[in-house]
Amino acid sequence: MSVPPVVIEGVSHYFGAGELRKQVLNEVSCGVEAGEIVILTGPSGSGKTTLLTLIGALRSAQEGSVQVLGNELLGADTKTLTRVRRDIGYIFQLHNLLDFLSTTQNVEMGLQLHPGVSKSERRERANAMLEAVGLGDKIDMDPSRMSGGQKQRVAIARALVTRPRLILADEPTASLDKKSGRDVVELMQGLARENNVSVVLVTHDNRILDVADRIIHLEDGELKSFSDAVVSNTEHMMNLLAGQNRKGDLQGVIADMTEEQFIPLLRQITQDSQQLLDVTRLASNAAFESMLDQALDAFTQKVADILDAERATLFLLDREHDELWSKTALDAEGRSFTIRIPSDRGIVGSVVSSGRGVNVSDAYADPRFDSSTDQETGFRTRNVFCTPLLDPSGEVFGAAQLLNKRGGVDFDRADEDRFDELMKSMGVILASWASMAPRRETSSLAQSGI
Ligand SMILES: Nc1ncnc2c1ncn2[C@@H]1O[C@H](COP(=O)(O)OP(=O)(O)OP(=O)(O)O)[C@@H](O)[C@H]1O
Ligand SMILES: [Mg+2]
Repeated sequence: MSVPPVVIEGVSHYFGAGELRKQVLNEVSCGVEAGEIVILTGPSGSGKTTLLTLIGALRSAQEGSVQVLGNELLGADTKTLTRVRRDIGYIFQLHNLLDFLSTTQNVEMGLQLHPGVSKSERRERANAMLEAVGLGDKIDMDPSRMSGGQKQRVAIARALVTRPRLILADEPTASLDKKSGRDVVELMQGLARENNVSVVLVTHDNRILDVADRIIHLEDGELKSFSDAVVSNTEHMMNLLAGQNRKGDLQGVIADMTEEQFIPLLRQITQDSQQLLDVTRLASNAAFESMLDQALDAFTQKVADILDAERATLFLLDREHDELWSKTALDAEGRSFTIRIPSDRGIVGSVVSSGRGVNVSDAYADPRFDSSTDQETGFRTRNVFCTPLLDPSGEVFGAAQLLNKRGGVDFDRADEDRFDELMKSMGVILASWASMAPRRETSSLAQSGI
């Protein structure tokens, strides 16, 4: 297998010296595969441009390893840097066209680092590239008279005329209206696909995230990786995650994990859920929603295992109907089904109304206990620990319940603390999931026949 076009390991970067020295990248590691389109997002000042210019050999690497197109750039000499730059196409927010040159000459500028190309070939390639970006009839137009979108197309033609193996684009749509911005990225996408070119694209524009094969996110100079399953809303990912097979896979994998493997995964997915909502606002991301849906079921069962409980169930508050419904419940035979009860009924109802956890060692002796679910399912509840689920604003939106500690004993203080801690993470995942499709309860009820 050939080396990926970009491999970055442990890259840190600093600006300024002495007391003013400021770290802007912190141990960033990532890669870009051949033909892959990677979108780099993150708040202003998070280090996106810095990272892009390091990859582009436009800035000297200080720490870590930056391998681009087979060359290590850390400590590389000028000759190497120049050679690498020759194989990269750069597109910036401002097109940087030169008004005193013709449109064709601007594109030819891209070939200035390529001394082997003759004058006539330069002209030919420039015109062919302008044709490819849809400006075949604008070859004689003065760049100063072009629209923003047209100028950006010229800039793309200039970046691609060298037949680069890697395209680096820093907010190429920022100065364009919605339609021109879309056209420009689709053009880049098409050309990249045709020529098996890799693209790293920095953008703040959420509307173009779907062109990416993968989205990576920088925050305060650190890479927050969307786990591979989560990364984008491309059709590819949806197909991958939506299938039943995948569901089995995920549940099997999680069931087989050790506690030490599971806890970091839970943290990661919690972080990703939060990020997905904060960063991309892709609230209707079907792939992510489907992944969360499966993850919640699998995680709940895993939490039951960790805490030696026979059952773990998540309940969500349906304010419209004043009811609690179960996201994940199993009957006596381990089949999943949906429970639906008035929001003030039972131990879970009392937890949701009071916002406080409850630990009951003998359920049938507790006046709050509602035995109707046991009657329906054939399961025999002995003891119960139930804790409220809080959304990010601190409001109760449901409850998590453990039933029957194994070994005939009660849930103790350590179990309570552990469960509360795990449920804080689960609460974030559950809140993300619930916010993606608030009306889902209706359909899952229809499915379960209740
Ligand atoms: N030449 C420089 N000298 C000193 N500090 C710099 C320099 N260039 C960037 N910085 C600082 O480094 C940090 C990262 O900057 P960078 O331009 O990489 O951010 P960015 O993610 O591209 O932001 P934006 O979305 O606003 O373009 C910022 O705090 C910035 O002020
Ligand atoms: Mg920038």
